[in-house]
Amino acid sequence: MQWESFDSQEALSARAAELLLSAIRENPRSVLGLPTGRSPIGMYARVVQECSREYHCFRDVVTFNLDEYCGIAPEHPASYATYMRQHLFDHVDIDPANTHIPHGIDPDPAGYEEELRRAGGLELTFLGLGRNGHIGFNEPGTPFDSRTRIVELTASTRHANADLFPDGHVPTHAITMGIGTILESRRIVLLVSGKGKEEALERLHSGAVSEDFPASALHVHRDVTVLNVGRASARPTGAAG
Ligand code: GLP
Repeated sequence: MQWESFDSQEALSARAAELLLSAIRENPRSVLGLPTGRSPIGMYARVVQECSREYHCFRDVVTFNLDEYCGIAPEHPASYATYMRQHLFDHVDIDPANTHIPHGIDPDPAGYEEELRRAGGLELTFLGLGRNGHIGFNEPGTPFDSRTRIVELTASTRHANADLFPDGHVPTHAITMGIGTILESRRIVLLVSGKGKEEALERLHSGAVSEDFPASALHVHRDVTVLNVGRASARPTGAAG
């Protein structure tokens, strides 16, 4: 696991965007795993900025989002489908047919895995980190070999995302790629920024692997980079050192 620490969200976002853009320049048919949440917003903004200068940035890129809330339609203002349109898809030349987001009203976990398999699997996946260590919506206790499925959200996750649902109806369930699904990505970049992440960041940095802390599954992967704001020192830990 490689660690890169930054002084600011802007610096982290610039580095994350650079990793994404260099992947799609290297392979214009890249299959990307994409996150939502607050952490990647700056990355998407940078990517959009760069791609407005570069024609055909996303023309042949294929994307699979990690997760979606259950019970809300893609058009819902707080859906991850809306988020992706707002922050990326509406601003780049991606073919909507190449974008995949689990469906919140009609979730089909097995179908999602099948589409992923047909696309050749994930090449580069960006992840955010939940305060309790969740990745995607894989909450503590999730087996590391889990696949795409419907999950119940913990009270802490619902609380952390409550401000996105001003009507107070925070979804109770979500559909998420499993940890096993995520670990099959050939490369993984974890973005860690924002309030309340300190403890999770330190726990990840300790290198201890436990299903109580979903992000620790990343220690068993060969190619993970952790981009973070907050750790004073950057030193590599874990399997790939
Ligand atoms: C949400 C999402 C995750 C995201 C995480 C962190 O619940 N399902 O995919 O990575 O929480 O979000 P944020 O970046 O807003 O802190």
